[in-house]
Amino acid sequence: MNRRYRKTIIAGNWKMNKLPGESKDFIVQLKEQASAAKWCDIVLCVPFTHLHAAVKAARGTRIAIGAQNCHFAEKGAYTGEVSCRMLADMGVKYVIIGHSERRQYFGETDSDVNKKVKAAIDAGLRPIICLGESLEIRENGAELDHIRMQLKAALKDIDAQQLRKVVIAYEPIWAIGTGRIATPQQADEVGSAIRETLRSIYGARAARGVSILYGGSLSESNAGGMFAMPDVDGGLIGGASLEPASLASIIDAAQQD
Ligand code: PGA
Repeated sequence: MNRRYRKTIIAGNWKMNKLPGESKDFIVQLKEQASAAKWCDIVLCVPFTHLHAAVKAARGTRIAIGAQNCHFAEKGAYTGEVSCRMLADMGVKYVIIGHSERRQYFGETDSDVNKKVKAAIDAGLRPIICLGESLEIRENGAELDHIRMQLKAALKDIDAQQLRKVVIAYEPIWAIGTGRIATPQQADEVGSAIRETLRSIYGARAARGVSILYGGSLSESNAGGMFAMPDVDGGLIGGASLEPASLASIIDAAQQD
Protein backbone atom coordinates (compact mmCIF):
# COMPACT_ATOMS: atom_id res chain seq x y z
CA MET A 1 0.00 0.00 0.00
CA ASN A 2 1.00 3.59 -0.45
CA ARG A 3 -1.06 5.86 1.78
CA ARG A 4 0.49 8.99 0.41
CA TYR A 5 -1.33 8.66 -2.87
CA ARG A 6 -4.36 6.46 -2.26
CA LYS A 7 -6.78 5.10 0.28
CA THR A 8 -6.39 1.76 1.95
CA ILE A 9 -9.74 -0.01 1.72
CA ILE A 10 -10.94 -3.12 3.51
CA ALA A 11 -14.18 -4.38 1.98
CA GLY A 12 -16.16 -7.35 3.24
CA ASN A 13 -18.26 -9.31 0.75
CA TRP A 14 -20.93 -11.28 2.57
CA LYS A 15 -22.13 -12.89 -0.67
CA MET A 16 -25.46 -14.71 -0.06
CA ASN A 17 -25.03 -15.16 3.68
CA LYS A 18 -26.70 -14.10 6.94
CA LEU A 19 -30.18 -12.66 7.47
CA PRO A 20 -31.06 -8.95 7.41
CA GLY A 21 -31.52 -8.87 11.19
CA GLU A 22 -27.94 -10.01 11.75
CA SER A 23 -26.52 -6.88 10.15
CA LYS A 24 -27.02 -4.65 13.15
CA ASP A 25 -25.29 -6.87 15.72
CA PHE A 26 -22.43 -7.46 13.33
CA ILE A 27 -21.88 -3.75 12.77
CA VAL A 28 -22.09 -2.97 16.49
CA GLN A 29 -19.44 -5.60 17.18
CA LEU A 30 -17.23 -4.56 14.30
CA LYS A 31 -17.41 -0.94 15.42
CA GLU A 32 -16.22 -1.94 18.89
CA GLN A 33 -13.47 -4.22 17.68
CA ALA A 34 -12.19 -2.04 14.85
CA SER A 35 -12.56 1.31 16.59
CA ALA A 36 -9.03 2.47 15.81
CA ALA A 37 -9.57 2.33 12.06
CA LYS A 38 -8.04 5.65 11.19
CA TRP A 39 -5.99 4.74 8.15
CA CYS A 40 -8.38 2.68 6.18
CA ASP A 41 -11.85 2.92 4.77
CA ILE A 42 -14.10 0.06 5.80
CA VAL A 43 -16.84 -1.18 3.48
CA LEU A 44 -19.37 -3.94 4.10
CA CYS A 45 -21.08 -5.33 0.99
CA VAL A 46 -24.27 -7.10 1.99
CA PRO A 47 -27.20 -8.67 0.10
CA PHE A 48 -29.88 -6.25 -1.19
CA THR A 49 -32.31 -7.36 1.51
CA HIS A 50 -29.85 -6.35 4.25
CA LEU A 51 -28.99 -2.90 2.91
CA HIS A 52 -31.60 -0.93 4.78
CA ALA A 53 -30.70 -2.39 8.19
CA ALA A 54 -26.97 -2.15 7.47
CA VAL A 55 -27.08 1.49 6.35
CA LYS A 56 -29.06 2.35 9.46
CA ALA A 57 -26.70 0.51 11.80
CA ALA A 58 -23.61 2.01 10.17
CA ARG A 59 -24.84 5.61 10.40
CA GLY A 60 -22.33 7.73 12.32
CA THR A 61 -19.60 5.08 12.08
CA ARG A 62 -16.60 4.74 9.76
CA ILE A 63 -18.26 1.83 8.00
CA ALA A 64 -19.69 2.42 4.52
CA ILE A 65 -22.23 0.01 3.08
CA GLY A 66 -21.97 -1.51 -0.37
CA ALA A 67 -24.15 -3.69 -2.60
CA GLN A 68 -22.86 -6.74 -4.46
CA ASN A 69 -24.47 -6.07 -7.83
CA CYS A 70 -26.62 -3.54 -9.67
CA HIS A 71 -28.39 -3.14 -12.99
CA PHE A 72 -27.00 -0.82 -15.64
CA ALA A 73 -30.28 0.84 -16.61
CA GLU A 74 -31.59 3.80 -14.68
CA LYS A 75 -35.08 2.30 -14.51
CA GLY A 76 -37.53 0.30 -16.58
CA ALA A 77 -38.88 -3.14 -17.36
CA TYR A 78 -36.18 -5.30 -15.74
CA THR A 79 -38.11 -7.51 -13.35
CA GLY A 80 -36.14 -8.43 -10.28
CA GLU A 81 -33.33 -5.93 -10.83
CA VAL A 82 -32.09 -3.02 -8.74
CA SER A 83 -30.72 0.23 -10.20
CA CYS A 84 -27.78 2.25 -8.94
CA ARG A 85 -30.02 5.22 -8.22
CA MET A 86 -32.13 3.03 -5.95
CA LEU A 87 -28.99 1.98 -4.09
CA ALA A 88 -27.63 5.51 -3.79
CA ASP A 89 -31.00 6.74 -2.55
CA MET A 90 -30.81 4.22 0.32
CA GLY A 91 -27.45 5.56 1.48
CA VAL A 92 -25.33 2.87 -0.19
CA LYS A 93 -21.85 4.13 -1.16
CA TYR A 94 -20.15 1.25 -2.99
CA VAL A 95 -21.14 -1.55 -5.34
CA ILE A 96 -19.17 -4.64 -6.32
CA ILE A 97 -19.24 -5.06 -10.11
CA GLY A 98 -18.13 -8.03 -12.18
CA HIS A 99 -17.37 -10.46 -9.35
CA SER A 100 -16.21 -13.75 -10.88
CA GLU A 101 -19.23 -15.53 -9.40
CA ARG A 102 -21.50 -13.20 -11.38
CA ARG A 103 -19.45 -13.68 -14.51
CA GLN A 104 -19.45 -17.45 -14.03
CA TYR A 105 -23.00 -18.21 -12.81
CA PHE A 106 -24.96 -15.30 -14.27
CA GLY A 107 -23.20 -14.84 -17.58
CA GLU A 108 -22.02 -11.30 -16.91
CA THR A 109 -19.82 -10.07 -19.73
CA ASP A 110 -17.11 -7.41 -19.89
CA SER A 111 -19.58 -5.20 -21.70
CA ASP A 112 -22.18 -5.60 -18.90
CA VAL A 113 -19.47 -4.73 -16.41
CA ASN A 114 -18.60 -1.57 -18.33
CA LYS A 115 -22.26 -0.48 -18.46
CA LYS A 116 -22.67 -1.12 -14.74
CA VAL A 117 -19.50 0.84 -13.90
CA LYS A 118 -20.86 3.83 -15.81
CA ALA A 119 -24.26 3.54 -14.15
CA ALA A 120 -22.68 3.32 -10.70
CA ILE A 121 -20.52 6.41 -11.21
CA ASP A 122 -23.44 8.36 -12.69
CA ALA A 123 -25.47 7.57 -9.57
CA GLY A 124 -22.64 8.68 -7.26
CA LEU A 125 -21.62 5.17 -6.17
CA ARG A 126 -18.04 3.89 -6.06
CA PRO A 127 -17.73 0.72 -8.17
CA ILE A 128 -15.41 -2.01 -6.88
CA ILE A 129 -14.51 -3.64 -10.20
CA CYS A 130 -13.43 -7.28 -9.89
CA LEU A 131 -10.85 -8.76 -12.25
CA GLY A 132 -9.32 -12.22 -12.09
CA GLU A 133 -7.99 -15.14 -14.06
CA SER A 134 -8.93 -18.83 -13.94
CA LEU A 135 -6.40 -21.48 -12.96
CA GLU A 136 -6.12 -22.53 -16.58
CA ILE A 137 -5.19 -19.02 -17.69
CA ARG A 138 -2.57 -18.79 -14.93
CA GLU A 139 -1.10 -22.16 -15.79
CA ASN A 140 -0.73 -20.93 -19.36
CA GLY A 141 1.08 -17.84 -18.12
CA ALA A 142 -1.56 -15.58 -19.67
CA GLU A 143 -2.83 -13.90 -16.50
CA LEU A 144 -1.43 -10.42 -17.09
CA ASP A 145 -2.85 -10.20 -20.61
CA HIS A 146 -6.20 -11.45 -19.35
CA ILE A 147 -6.34 -8.89 -16.54
CA ARG A 148 -5.31 -6.02 -18.82
CA MET A 149 -8.06 -7.00 -21.24
CA GLN A 150 -10.71 -7.18 -18.50
CA LEU A 151 -9.54 -3.84 -17.09
CA LYS A 152 -9.64 -1.99 -20.40
CA ALA A 153 -13.09 -3.39 -21.18
CA ALA A 154 -14.45 -2.42 -17.76
CA LEU A 155 -13.15 1.16 -18.12
CA LYS A 156 -14.14 1.78 -21.73
CA ASP A 157 -15.21 5.44 -22.10
CA ILE A 158 -14.52 6.20 -18.43
CA ASP A 159 -12.57 9.47 -18.16
CA ALA A 160 -9.90 10.48 -15.64
CA GLN A 161 -12.39 12.40 -13.52
CA GLN A 162 -14.67 9.35 -13.28
CA LEU A 163 -11.69 7.11 -12.56
CA ARG A 164 -11.32 8.84 -9.19
CA LYS A 165 -14.42 6.99 -8.02
CA VAL A 166 -13.17 3.58 -9.16
CA VAL A 167 -11.74 0.85 -6.93
CA ILE A 168 -10.18 -2.22 -8.55
CA ALA A 169 -10.11 -5.68 -6.92
CA TYR A 170 -7.78 -8.34 -8.26
CA GLU A 171 -9.34 -11.68 -7.37
CA PRO A 172 -7.74 -14.76 -8.94
CA ILE A 173 -10.61 -17.23 -9.37
CA TRP A 174 -8.46 -20.13 -8.14
CA ALA A 175 -7.98 -18.35 -4.81
CA ILE A 176 -11.62 -17.50 -4.07
CA GLY A 177 -13.06 -19.59 -1.25
CA THR A 178 -10.39 -22.24 -1.78
CA GLY A 179 -7.94 -21.46 1.01
CA ARG A 180 -5.29 -21.29 -1.69
CA ILE A 181 -4.17 -17.68 -1.52
CA ALA A 182 -1.95 -16.00 -4.12
CA THR A 183 1.50 -15.13 -2.83
CA PRO A 184 2.06 -11.45 -2.01
CA GLN A 185 4.46 -11.33 -4.98
CA GLN A 186 1.84 -12.72 -7.37
CA ALA A 187 -0.76 -10.22 -6.12
CA ASP A 188 1.69 -7.34 -6.39
CA GLU A 189 2.80 -8.33 -9.88
CA VAL A 190 -0.80 -8.16 -11.08
CA GLY A 191 -1.47 -4.99 -9.03
CA SER A 192 1.47 -3.31 -10.67
CA ALA A 193 0.38 -4.45 -14.16
CA ILE A 194 -3.06 -2.95 -13.43
CA ARG A 195 -1.49 0.34 -12.36
CA GLU A 196 0.79 0.37 -15.39
CA THR A 197 -2.24 -0.09 -17.66
CA LEU A 198 -4.07 2.71 -15.85
CA ARG A 199 -0.97 4.89 -16.30
CA SER A 200 -0.88 4.23 -20.03
CA ILE A 201 -4.52 5.30 -20.39
CA TYR A 202 -4.91 8.07 -17.81
CA GLY A 203 -1.38 9.23 -16.96
CA ALA A 204 0.74 8.73 -13.85
CA ARG A 205 -1.12 11.09 -11.57
CA ALA A 206 -4.56 9.57 -12.08
CA ALA A 207 -3.16 6.02 -11.93
CA ARG A 208 -1.38 6.42 -8.63
CA GLY A 209 -4.60 7.52 -6.92
CA VAL A 210 -6.51 4.30 -7.64
CA SER A 211 -6.82 1.77 -4.81
CA ILE A 212 -6.15 -1.79 -6.00
CA LEU A 213 -7.40 -4.47 -3.61
CA TYR A 214 -6.53 -8.15 -3.47
CA GLY A 215 -9.23 -10.76 -2.88
CA GLY A 216 -9.20 -14.55 -2.53
CA SER A 217 -8.79 -16.49 0.74
CA LEU A 218 -7.56 -13.45 2.67
CA SER A 219 -7.56 -14.05 6.42
CA GLU A 220 -6.13 -12.56 9.57
CA SER A 221 -3.10 -14.85 9.23
CA ASN A 222 -2.06 -13.85 5.71
CA ALA A 223 -3.36 -10.26 5.33
CA GLY A 224 -0.29 -8.53 6.78
CA GLY A 225 2.11 -9.93 4.18
CA MET A 226 -0.28 -9.02 1.40
CA PHE A 227 -0.77 -5.43 2.56
CA ALA A 228 2.99 -4.88 2.78
CA MET A 229 3.16 -4.93 -1.03
CA PRO A 230 3.27 -1.55 -2.85
CA ASP A 231 0.42 -2.31 -5.26
CA VAL A 232 -1.93 -4.02 -2.81
CA ASP A 233 -4.01 -1.25 -1.22
CA GLY A 234 -6.32 -3.41 0.85
CA GLY A 235 -8.59 -6.38 0.45
CA LEU A 236 -11.95 -7.70 -0.70
CA ILE A 237 -12.80 -10.37 1.81
CA GLY A 238 -15.42 -13.09 1.54
CA GLY A 239 -15.33 -15.90 4.12
CA ALA A 240 -13.32 -13.99 6.73
CA SER A 241 -15.75 -11.05 6.59
CA LEU A 242 -18.53 -13.11 8.15
CA GLU A 243 -17.09 -12.83 11.68
CA PRO A 244 -16.58 -9.36 13.18
CA ALA A 245 -13.41 -10.50 14.99
CA SER A 246 -11.67 -11.80 11.88
CA LEU A 247 -12.66 -8.78 9.80
CA ALA A 248 -11.44 -6.51 12.62
CA SER A 249 -8.07 -8.33 12.64
CA ILE A 250 -7.71 -7.79 8.90
CA ILE A 251 -8.52 -4.10 9.40
CA ASP A 252 -5.79 -3.99 12.07
CA ALA A 253 -3.35 -5.59 9.64
CA ALA A 254 -4.15 -2.86 7.12
CA GLN A 255 -3.27 -0.18 9.63
CA GLN A 256 0.24 -1.33 10.42
CA ASP A 257 2.94 1.03 9.24
P1 PGA B 1 -12.98 -15.39 -0.10
O1 PGA B 1 -13.83 -14.57 -1.19
O2 PGA B 1 -12.30 -14.37 0.78
O3 PGA B 1 -13.99 -16.21 0.65
O4 PGA B 1 -11.99 -16.20 -0.85
C1 PGA B 1 -13.36 -13.38 -1.74
C2 PGA B 1 -14.35 -12.83 -2.72
O5 PGA B 1 -14.95 -13.62 -3.47
O6 PGA B 1 -14.56 -11.60 -2.79
